[in-house]
Amino acid sequence: MRRVVQFSTGNVGRHSLRAIIGRPDLELAGVHAASPAKIGRDAAELCDWGEPTGVLATDDVEALLALKPDCVVYTALAETRPVEAIEQLSAILAAGINVVGSSLVWMVAPRHAEDWVREPLEKACAAGGSSLYINGIDPGYSGDTLVHTALGLVTRAESVAVQEIFDYGNYDDAEFTGAAMGFGVAEDAELPPLYLPGVVASMWGGQVRSLAAALGITLDEVTQRTERWFTPERIDCTMMTVQPGEMAAVRFATEGVLNGKVVITMEHVNRLTSAAAPDWDFPPDGHSGVHRVVVEGDPRIEINTHVSHPVLDPTDAGCISTAARVVNAIDWVCDAPAGLVSVEDIPQTAVLNGLLW
Ligand SMILES: NC(=O)c1ccc[n+]([C@@H]2O[C@H](COP(=O)([O-])OP(=O)(O)OC[C@H]3O[C@@H](n4cnc5c(N)ncnc54)[C@H](OP(=O)(O)O)[C@@H]3O)[C@@H](O)[C@H]2O)c1
Repeated sequence: MRRVVQFSTGNVGRHSLRAIIGRPDLELAGVHAASPAKIGRDAAELCDWGEPTGVLATDDVEALLALKPDCVVYTALAETRPVEAIEQLSAILAAGINVVGSSLVWMVAPRHAEDWVREPLEKACAAGGSSLYINGIDPGYSGDTLVHTALGLVTRAESVAVQEIFDYGNYDDAEFTGAAMGFGVAEDAELPPLYLPGVVASMWGGQVRSLAAALGITLDEVTQRTERWFTPERIDCTMMTVQPGEMAAVRFATEGVLNGKVVITMEHVNRLTSAAAPDWDFPPDGHSGVHRVVVEGDPRIEINTHVSHPVLDPTDAGCISTAARVVNAIDWVCDAPAGLVSVEDIPQTAVLNGLLW
């Protein structure tokens, strides 16, 4: 039995919290909440779980560390507050507590992450004898496990292209995804963070470099491209209302170049409605989203992943899968040698144990 603290209960965190409460091999030791409206409430209320847990949400990080859990599941928004998140994660790790999480997406490929984010976390793991594992669906699954699976089916590869094509209209995250990607922002307004030089390559570059290293190639360079689509008509969706002239779709990619040719592409195509950006790629067969890999080689491989749910929206299904990527690894990470854990360190079957509950 692993004793676990859930840190935040947002889009991803409420699903990891449900899994921690539900799984018989995990025990919920504590829950962190930043919002005053959540503090003091039972964990069950924060994730629509039927039975009270008796575990009340707190913003007292010291008190949560004093519970000495085996692991913290960290899903607090981190990309808008990376310095604070690194400090918070470092304090947990230095206290000897393992962390799995979806935040700080730079750390999805930890050995290829930039020094500013990797080094302090590496030091904290060493100080506490603890381990840190960050993953998700994208970045994460589509650029690592999915790609590794596809490449296992070819004898020769010419190029690897990963795509997330997803409708974010129902993603209730105007604060980060919306603002950072520039949804609802006019063309002549100040450029949103994603379009500043190097930002896309910084966030997805680690996965590109990690794949290049696994393929045994040395890339000439890692580049980025971004393109925005502005709606001629008003759009109302869960994320926000978009006025005519404002951005309602984006596509961006980080690319690995070898001998002048793009051989690795990690691309996003994100819309707020299927009517947006009609000339860009759509998911196949009427799906609202796809996580896809295409390997050109011998033979050509294409694998399309569609997450869905009988009750919830596909965006929520994607958040459940993001939670799954890390919650399922808790047991292995708790037994791992101290340090930064990368997806390839974890045997593929080790994350299956305990899933049938
Ligand atoms: N790789 C992937 O596939 C993937 C997919 C989805 C998300 N993510 C990442 O996972 C993280 C969570 O995403 P999300 O959609 O769940 O985010 P979210 O719902 O927008 O926010 C998550 C939580 O962050 C907490 N928070 C906000 N400001 C805080 C602060 N100053 N201090 C402490 N906590 C704070 C809030 O906690 P309270 O509710 O307690 O106030 C909020 O619920 C993000 O970093 C995101 O980039 C990765």
